[in-house]
Amino acid sequence: SKGGHASFMVKEMLEQPEAVRRTIQDRIGIDGSVRLDGLGIEESTFARINKVVVVACGTASYGGQIAKYAIERWCRIPVEVDLAHEFRYRTPLLDARTLVVAISQSGETMDTLMAVRYAREQGAVVLSICNTQGSTIARESNGVLHTLAGPEIAVASTKAFLAQVTANLLLALYLAQFRGSALREETFAVAKELRRIPDLIQRTLDRAGRVNALAADLREATSVLFIGRHVGFPVALEGALKLKELAYIHAEGFAAGELKHGAIALIDQGQPVIVIVPSLRHSSLLHAKVMSTIQEVKARGGWVVAVADDGDGVVAEWADEVIAVPESSPLLAPLLTTVPLQLFAAGLAAEKGLDVDQPRNLAKSVTVE
Ligand code: M6R
Repeated sequence: SKGGHASFMVKEMLEQPEAVRRTIQDRIGIDGSVRLDGLGIEESTFARINKVVVVACGTASYGGQIAKYAIERWCRIPVEVDLAHEFRYRTPLLDARTLVVAISQSGETMDTLMAVRYAREQGAVVLSICNTQGSTIARESNGVLHTLAGPEIAVASTKAFLAQVTANLLLALYLAQFRGSALREETFAVAKELRRIPDLIQRTLDRAGRVNALAADLREATSVLFIGRHVGFPVALEGALKLKELAYIHAEGFAAGELKHGAIALIDQGQPVIVIVPSLRHSSLLHAKVMSTIQEVKARGGWVVAVADDGDGVVAEWADEVIAVPESSPLLAPLLTTVPLQLFAAGLAAEKGLDVDQPRNLAKSVTVE
C-alpha cells in the first residue's frame, strides 16, 4: 500500500534513510571496518582481481559510475563502466582476474542478464548487486551483494538507487580494506561517516518544501540541463533521467567541463541549468572549476540552480538559487545531492498532474533485449 502517500514513488523517496540504513547494517563496524559476509565469492578470488567492469542499465549504470570513482581511488584497480546492452557487442577483454559487477534493482533486466551470461562464458567472476532476493541475475552470478531497500514499486528508481550507491561504496571499501589501501585511514573514516549518512538523507528530505517551490517556478520549462563534475556528473545524469521519466521534460546531463566543447551553445536567456556543486571544504579545486562553469552559464543568460553544501559561502554569489544539502565526504555526496533532484522531478510531475508511479511508455523491469 501507499501508506497514505500520494504515490508509491513519494513513499519510496521517504523510505530512503531506512533503505540505506538497512543496506549498511552489520556490514560496517563501529571502528569503520567493512565486512561483507555470505557474498558467495572467496576472499582469495577477490585478492586476484586486476580489473573491474561494471555492467548495468539506466539509473543502475549511474550508480556504477560512482563505483568507478570509489574503487579506483581506494583500491587502485582499473574500473570500466559499461551499459549492459553495449557490453557484449564490443568484444570486451575479460578473464578470470576480471570482476564483473552487475547492478540491477529487479535482477530481471534482460540486457544486464545477457551481460552476466556473456561475462561468465568468458571466465570472468561475476558479482551482482541486486535488490530482489532470488532474482535471475543473482542466481546466475558467482556471488551477490543484496541491497536491502525493500520492494520498489514505482517505475522510477529512487530508494533502490541510493541503496545501490551504498552497496557500491561498501564493495569499494571492503576491497580496499582487505587488499590494503594507501588510503587506509580514509577508508575507515569514510565507512564511519557512511553509518551516519541515513540521518543526513533524512535532513535532506526534510527540505522538500524548498524544492517543491522551485518545481512550481519551473512549471513551464521545456528543457532543463544538469551539470556536475567528478561524482556530480553521474548525479547530473540521474537528475536528467528522473525529469524525463516523470515530467516528460527534455533534460540532459553533462560533465561540467564538457559544456564548453559544444553543449554551451544550448544556453540562452532563461535556460534552467541545475549544477551539482562539489564540497568547497573537501575539494576547493573541483569547487573552483565548477564555479567557473557557473559563470560561463550565467554570462550567456542561463538561470542557475546550485545544489551545494550547507557550508558553501561562495556559491550564493553566482547561482540564482541554492538548494543546500548537508556536508559530506566527496564520494558520499551523491547519497545527498541526488535527493533534491528526485524531489524536483516528482514535484514537476505533480505540477503537471502526471502519474509518477506509472509514467507513459515505461515498465518497471525491462525483460526484453
Ligand atoms: O531493475 P534494474 O535496476 O536492472 O533496472 C535498470 C533500469 O531499467 C532502471 O534503473 C530505469 O532506468 C529506471 N526506470 C530509472 O528510474
